[in-house]
Amino acid sequence: MAQEDQLKKLISHCKEYGFIFPSSEIYDGLAAVYDYGQNGVELKNNIKEYWWKFMTRLHQNIVGIDAAIFMHPKTWEASGHVGAFNDPLIDNKDSKKRYRADNLIEEYRDKLQAKIDKEVEKAAKKFGESFDRAQFVSTNARVLEVQKQIDELTERYDRALNANDLNELRQIIIDCDIVCPISGTKNWTEVRQFNLMFKTQLGSVSEEASTIYLRPETAQGIFVNYLNVQKTGRMKIPFGIAQIGKAFRNEIVARQFVFRMREFEQMEMQFFIRPGSEMEWFKYWKEMRLRWHKTLGFGDDHYRYHDHEKLAHYANAATDIEFKFPMGFKEVEGIHSRTDFDLGQHQKFSGKKIQYFDPELCQSYTPYVIETSIGVDRMFMSVLSGAYTEEQLETEGAKDSRVVLKIPAALAPVKAAVLPLVKKDGLPELAEKLMKKLMLRFNCQYEEKDSIGKRYRRQDAIGTPFCITIDHQSVEDNTVTIRYRDSMKQERVAIDAVSDIIAKDCDINNLLAQLQD
Ligand code: GAP
Repeated sequence: MAQEDQLKKLISHCKEYGFIFPSSEIYDGLAAVYDYGQNGVELKNNIKEYWWKFMTRLHQNIVGIDAAIFMHPKTWEASGHVGAFNDPLIDNKDSKKRYRADNLIEEYRDKLQAKIDKEVEKAAKKFGESFDRAQFVSTNARVLEVQKQIDELTERYDRALNANDLNELRQIIIDCDIVCPISGTKNWTEVRQFNLMFKTQLGSVSEEASTIYLRPETAQGIFVNYLNVQKTGRMKIPFGIAQIGKAFRNEIVARQFVFRMREFEQMEMQFFIRPGSEMEWFKYWKEMRLRWHKTLGFGDDHYRYHDHEKLAHYANAATDIEFKFPMGFKEVEGIHSRTDFDLGQHQKFSGKKIQYFDPELCQSYTPYVIETSIGVDRMFMSVLSGAYTEEQLETEGAKDSRVVLKIPAALAPVKAAVLPLVKKDGLPELAEKLMKKLMLRFNCQYEEKDSIGKRYRRQDAIGTPFCITIDHQSVEDNTVTIRYRDSMKQERVAIDAVSDIIAKDCDINNLLAQLQD
């Protein structure tokens, strides 16, 4: 299926089954802002629980906080966001559409790469098992020519970014014949810098009001609370502070569904360490975070690292964990070695001493920081796209199909559906009794409308791992049928055993236990 079609299918599935709706849809929506529906919020909360418990329960030296969204405006001067949290934008004069100049160039480069991939695919088909990929890409004339273009472009593009040379970015767009996808023309404006922070006013009287920002990342709430937490928690280095919360960015090009939004949620953890130990801890967090992702079971081939060659001025190492989304491999999480930049800047701007006295070294220093930063919404999208499966079935000789979300049971929004086969003969009463017991442990649904087949399909579409059917035999011998989502196998079990069967698969500790060292 083409990448675009996959994404479209995912978006419409999310809407149809109560996962994600466009914001204020009755007014035709608001660009790049989304609301989570009844199933979406459950899945999102489960993702957050998986992250929160991994950080704060599995690591005795990590604690959580919940800082305010509004912060003193000096915070953003100190962090560098007022001066440099910019994207280079360019407008097409004919379509009046605005683009990120860097995105236009990177998409053009992706297209070149796609040409190589196509050649390789064609050759692999032609030569079958004897195909040697490495030899093909290093000798095929067409591939070598395109690879040369990619390398030259990358070098020129990196140089322009490093030098913050906006004219050169524009020139690359012109030289590569990049056209506006809407107008098809090359009638481009100059490239300008655009600050991504949303501004608002604090205070009711205009003369007294001061400009404040909606935070563009949650991390600064952690940095400004470093001393509070370290002192009140008597934390010893190395230790971490974790936080989940909303962040806001006025993205120029906000698209690809919840991948790039203007209001989104982050799960960030800052790990405070001794200067000089950063490479060791960077390696640790890089590996641990990838393990956390892989434990969900979507397949190791769905993940890869992208190490940054171009580093922000305050970082001495950075990598992204990329997930294979419907639109290809894209960043879902960043791991950054941020040195002592942030704490150092807050010390400078606030005039307050932000130091740690290390009793083992008998020495004070500004701690270094390793940051892990993941977007809840991107993580949500990775889970849904990894789980979305279309299956062709054959039931009793007849062809059928289903869409099933193979969400890991511990994250599934609804854990079990209780389904009386008919609405009479004491079946609903027995089903309600079971439902009452299960609802104390799990999010469950009770459904008695429509045929059992239709009810199974509805539950498959929202990823419910277990369907429990109550039939006439249940009333006689207190057994029920349990149907497993992925295999569709059915089994007769004692009604009293159901709760523990569900718990065995749905307990989030199953995932966490795999991550204990
Ligand atoms: N404190 C570091 C920081 O904010 P970032 O790479 O800008 O780093 C971290 O963002 C993560 O936040 C990204 O990996 C992504 O998952 C998520 N994220 C960033 N911008 C986003 C947006 N506009 N919409 C959705 N998620 C976003």
